[in-house]
Amino acid sequence: MKPLVGTDLALDATGIVKRFGSVLALDGADLRVRPGEVHGLVGANGSGKSTMLKVVSGQLAPDVGQLKLDGHPVTLRGPRDGLAHGVAAVSQESTLALGLSVTENVLMGRRLVKSRGTISMARSIERAQEFLDLVGYRGSATALAGTLRPDARQLVEIARALSFKTRFLILDESTSSLTSDEVGNLGELVDRLRNAGLSVLFVSHRMTEVLAFCDSLTVLRDGRTVSRGNVEDYDEATLVTAMTGIDEKMRSARDREHVIERTERVGDPHEGLSLRGFRTASMRKGIDLDVPSGRIVGLCSQEQVIRSEVLLSLAGMQPRNGGTARLHDQPYEPRSGKDALTSSVGFVSADRRADGFVGDMSIRDNFALLSTWSSGRLRMRNTRKEKQAAERAREWMSIRSGSVDAAVATLSGGNQQKVVLGKWLEVGPRLLLLDEPTRGVDISSKLEIYETLRHSAKDGMAILVSSSEDEELIACCDTIAVVGRRGLVALLDGPTTTAAELADYGTRDQ
Ligand SMILES: Nc1ncnc2c1ncn2[C@@H]1O[C@H](COP(=O)(O)OP(=O)(O)OP(=O)(O)O)[C@@H](O)[C@H]1O
Ligand SMILES: [Mg+2]
Repeated sequence: MKPLVGTDLALDATGIVKRFGSVLALDGADLRVRPGEVHGLVGANGSGKSTMLKVVSGQLAPDVGQLKLDGHPVTLRGPRDGLAHGVAAVSQESTLALGLSVTENVLMGRRLVKSRGTISMARSIERAQEFLDLVGYRGSATALAGTLRPDARQLVEIARALSFKTRFLILDESTSSLTSDEVGNLGELVDRLRNAGLSVLFVSHRMTEVLAFCDSLTVLRDGRTVSRGNVEDYDEATLVTAMTGIDEKMRSARDREHVIERTERVGDPHEGLSLRGFRTASMRKGIDLDVPSGRIVGLCSQEQVIRSEVLLSLAGMQPRNGGTARLHDQPYEPRSGKDALTSSVGFVSADRRADGFVGDMSIRDNFALLSTWSSGRLRMRNTRKEKQAAERAREWMSIRSGSVDAAVATLSGGNQQKVVLGKWLEVGPRLLLLDEPTRGVDISSKLEIYETLRHSAKDGMAILVSSSEDEELIACCDTIAVVGRRGLVALLDGPTTTAAELADYGTRDQ
């Protein structure tokens, strides 16, 4: 890599330190991005990526360190100041106003086009469309944001960030809702942004994405920059080595330890979930599917909407359109999330913000929230037990935080996801429904999560996993059901299935 000179850089952050109480989130980290390039920022959960992005976009002031934009030192006094310098960030969590239209969200009141003192909707739509086209949004500009699928919401969010005369776009895992079948779109999106002359800074836990779409990258570990270079200098193994500080040989030895026997147990058909002719709004034909106790069953579909509908209706949050569901040989007709809980059914939604946890509350209280309800009625709280449970979860999920009394909202994105999963595994429902269980989780923690899921299955839990990542389904499921609008396309053996096979069956529904 050619040595970088300060004036060549669109962004140059040097020696950035940021402390939150006892946590040193950034410990003298550096980040350099050339004009017009797509730069990847990678690192394990809690390594400081989001904190760094907040510093360079003006959302957080560094304790120490210097920031230069186009070679000039700047002090950003807030996100507005960042926007004024052409730096816009799209965060890990959605911030759209769901009750407003796509156009209103893109222009956010600021630029709704006025004509003789009144807002001209037609001209506003035209203005918004310019940015929507740039990101490749194909839906309606007048639709309410709340009616959009997660991937379309992400595109609208990116379009909004671009509407601020943006020269420098920051995407903090904002591509994680663009599911793998749409990764083509992500490539197109990145190309369009590059062609529009923008510099892009991009965080993703999907190494294939980083390697395919970035020109150069920076690796953070424990708040420090440990490696940076052109993308050609890296492959997946060298990236993971840089992220974890553990070399490949040691890693593979450790990974071998993590591989757990798949459950020998052939599930008892009377224990667990049994669906017959089960159909949701987007399916023309129902499916027959069993999720026996002791087994992990994967739900694979190119249609993200089908996967979420199946899980939401089983979690009591959406009605279904036909068929029957039985749980432990009893009719199972949940009409609310509480009904599901009463039947000992746990649900981890793909949107952890919306229904995964209460951010203001501590890790410990989030665990307590569930354990007091887990039997379907309020129990007396047992503080000591709760603290033990939260401590245990913190340990096996390696959640780095000061204490279990830390508010969940202050955890890094991936660690929040671990809290959501951890509390359900601690409660131990008889059926656990998981939608995108490892979204935002770093590549090495994923393995630990799969291992924990397998332990829970061994203990008799029935687990239904929906995921857009085929590798994930193959890594943790005993059986994988490929589902489409026309019902069940294939039922495959998890350990012996290949990603190519899944993709092939996935397209057969079209
Ligand atoms: N507002 C805050 N208050 C307290 N601690 C915080 C706050 N924001 C971040 N931290 C801590 O700083 C560290 C770095 O967090 P950060 O969100 O930057 O990680 P990350 O690399 O983005 O991780 P992930 O991949 O999980 O999103 C974590 O230990 C986190 O708990
Ligand atoms: Mg983050």
